[in-house]
Amino acid sequence: MSNYIRLVDDRWSFRDANTKEFTHCYHTYPAMMIPQVARSLIAEYKPDGDLKTIFDPYCGSGTTLVEANLVGVNAVGTDLNPLARLMSRVKTTHYDDKLIADQFALIQSHLMFYNEANVKNRNFSHISNFSFWYSEDVLLKLSYIQQLLEDFTDNNDFFLLCLAETVREVSFTRNGEFKRYRMPEESIRRFRPDVFATFERKVLRNIQGLIDFNKTAPLSAHSSEYGFNSTEGIPTDILPPDSVDMVVTSPPYGDSHTTVAYGQFSRWANEWFGYENAASLDSLLMGGKKTKEEKFETIAIRKELNTIKSLDEKRYWEVVSFLNDYAASMANVAKVVRQGGVICYVVGDRRVKGIQIPLDYFTAENFMQHGFTHIITLVREIPNKRMPAQTSPTNIAGQKVSTMTNEFLVIMKKTEVV
Ligand SMILES: C[S@@+](CC[C@H](N)C(=O)[O-])C[C@H]1O[C@@H](n2cnc3c(N)ncnc32)[C@H](O)[C@@H]1O
Repeated sequence: MSNYIRLVDDRWSFRDANTKEFTHCYHTYPAMMIPQVARSLIAEYKPDGDLKTIFDPYCGSGTTLVEANLVGVNAVGTDLNPLARLMSRVKTTHYDDKLIADQFALIQSHLMFYNEANVKNRNFSHISNFSFWYSEDVLLKLSYIQQLLEDFTDNNDFFLLCLAETVREVSFTRNGEFKRYRMPEESIRRFRPDVFATFERKVLRNIQGLIDFNKTAPLSAHSSEYGFNSTEGIPTDILPPDSVDMVVTSPPYGDSHTTVAYGQFSRWANEWFGYENAASLDSLLMGGKKTKEEKFETIAIRKELNTIKSLDEKRYWEVVSFLNDYAASMANVAKVVRQGGVICYVVGDRRVKGIQIPLDYFTAENFMQHGFTHIITLVREIPNKRMPAQTSPTNIAGQKVSTMTNEFLVIMKKTEVV
């Protein structure tokens, strides 16, 4: 690609940045964007003219939405993962922090006198294989927290999000894994999580984040979260053509099966709350449905695709299935951006069979096909590994390959209507 500038800029590594400011301290999520990246992109690359709406077509835990709202800009996010939507909604809502603190005091006073006999809901059949993932004591305590949330907070989402993170942490899932691996028997025997203390710590941490958010984010800005799939189209009643001033997003860098398993990570909470598609989510995300046809045009990554095909045809079709969805999504996103609007896509340099696929080239090439001009691609090192540098594509625990070391911030401007 001629005139394509990749600039390595150490300033964008944000090595010592506090990534947990404001509501960013709520629930963790795989491959979260560093808030400072979204913040600096908005500050330094905002389009000329109005900046009323920022869109994130893969909003995940809502980093972009929070950062937009902090500077008084409205945001629209979509994600197929219901847990991600819950996070995004809660992180951008100005709950009354004093009311939350009062409700929490009431909950704590009941937790203090916990008695198993008071647990009303003991039916856990909505959680697949529940006794494989939880001890009975833990299940009853989680159920009791939920009961208190129903009784004293009217199921306020703020508290539900604290419970969502708790249900995962107190399960027998292996620490530090995004995929669904059970701890070894030996660790299970020693595992005695303090369910109530875990929940309480999260509430206290999040209340502090909420107070800081309420102090800083103007009430005038709001966020809306949806569950539409930008691969299939963007509903015009939500975002009409030419209505978005800026897109700030970090798309997945491959299908969930061979890269980051968002659905597996979120399954505990999605099942606990009875959210839709809890068990099948990963197959619905980009690249989840395998195809045997290339539906995009590329010169930029043709060489890499050909090499992968010659090494392993199955892997090639997996990559193609993801790229088909990614290209379709970019075509739809391009339509809703206004003339002069800016897109910022944060992508990784994915490796398949040892071949590095420059997803930044593919991203830029696609947006160029839809009337965008490339401004710059900033290259940042990932210092504190907010996503695994290694994944287990074979799904065999312990087998790891390196997948990412750098992030590429592709910045482009819509200069013509196609
Ligand atoms: C890299 S994560 C986004 C992380 C986010 N920037 C953050 O800071 O938390 C990518 C997200 O894309 C979502 N996703 C994947 N395919 C999707 C699709 N077709 N439509 C909407 N969301 C999708 C996943 O559920 C995941 O939450």
